[in-house]
Amino acid sequence: MKCILMNKNTEVLIAEYDVIVKGFNKLYDIKNINFAPLIIENLYNKNKDEIKLLEQLSEWFKGRGIPSWRDDLDLLLAKLNVSTPTELLDKALGLSLSDQYWVKPFDSKIEYKDINFFEHDFEDSEFTSATFSNTRESNCKISLISPNNTTDGRLKKTWIIENGKRYLLKGGYKNEVMQPFNEVLATMICNRLGFKHIAYTIEVIKDKIVSKCECFINKDTELVSAYQILHNNCNKDDAYATYIKILENNGIVNAREEIENMFILDFIMLNEDRHLNNFGIIRNVENLEWIKTAPIFDTGQSLNILDYNDEELIINGDGRFFYDVDKFDAIIGCIQDIKRFDLTKLDGLCEEFENLLHKYQNVTKMTDRRINKICTLLSNRINKLKNICNS
Ligand SMILES: Nc1ncnc2c1ncn2[C@@H]1O[C@H](COP(=O)(O)OP(=O)(O)O)[C@@H](O)[C@H]1O
Ligand SMILES: [Mg+2]
Repeated sequence: MKCILMNKNTEVLIAEYDVIVKGFNKLYDIKNINFAPLIIENLYNKNKDEIKLLEQLSEWFKGRGIPSWRDDLDLLLAKLNVSTPTELLDKALGLSLSDQYWVKPFDSKIEYKDINFFEHDFEDSEFTSATFSNTRESNCKISLISPNNTTDGRLKKTWIIENGKRYLLKGGYKNEVMQPFNEVLATMICNRLGFKHIAYTIEVIKDKIVSKCECFINKDTELVSAYQILHNNCNKDDAYATYIKILENNGIVNAREEIENMFILDFIMLNEDRHLNNFGIIRNVENLEWIKTAPIFDTGQSLNILDYNDEELIINGDGRFFYDVDKFDAIIGCIQDIKRFDLTKLDGLCEEFENLLHKYQNVTKMTDRRINKICTLLSNRINKLKNICNS
């Protein structure tokens, strides 16, 4: 199918999309490469090789779909009556709620304003039910015209609409329930320390605990991940400095401070999952202005939940620092002025979090022992950071 890759209303390039393989195999024309996903623009500007461009384009497009490592993917696909997530990719023209790219059939007259999911509602209840319920039956009522074809990440998730606003619901991994609570804990810490973040709350859907946060993208913006910003664009040993420099050169104010804030949060929470797709910047898709760093999101895999052990308190873990995995103590070594954080603002946080865990105990069945251990660990982390800041 000959099609135009669009970024909202701007034509990026014209290419042949193979609907069977779900990839691009021929380039007809480049229209506005600066409106392409940054990873593609960077590649093209470095190297005008069409084959490489098509490969990257196909990889980027596939990467928009639900990943093969999504929790309980088989179950979801069975309910949707499809065999792979790539089958879903072009069902809603590749539209997403995290950016404004879409694939327009070459001869079509459709316009962004008629189809985007920021302004047009989509059916959300059947997909939500398919995502979080334990049943196996396929459900022909699930609409595939939705932004749920293009969600990333390992956890079960679904976009919903409430009072006209778009929210992302995310579950825990397998039988774990802590990811949603950790998102709320991150929210509490960021609120207290004044870090920019997206606010998560807890909901119970189909007897499951999920986190809920508002969409932080609107019809004029896109999320550009650190992965896209740095890919083939930095010396991996120097990624941190390069990242800050690129952001500053593109007019992002407080870039260093906000990245430092994110690493402080990760230190407190022992977040193991700050990979390059879990932070980034927000860009305006009309004028390509880099607006700001994206609010902190996805801090769910924290507090050693994957290694939880009822007997011992595991207090160490490794964090992510750009292309490296490192000790949290080493990671916060990058912070220029560690004394700028007022950690007294965290007083009472452990109790607040403990209350939250108790409040949902009837749903989570979490033992008092576990709650106590989690809060002890949190308290240890805060004290450890206080000691570092005071030394
Ligand atoms: N509030 C949001 N608004 C817009 N896009 C979001 C929002 N939260 C997450 N995303 C996008 O969805 C992707 C997956 O969400 P994430 O919270 O990272 O899930 P997971 O825990 O499964 O990795 C993110 O990498 C980001 O691109
Ligand atoms: Mg993620």
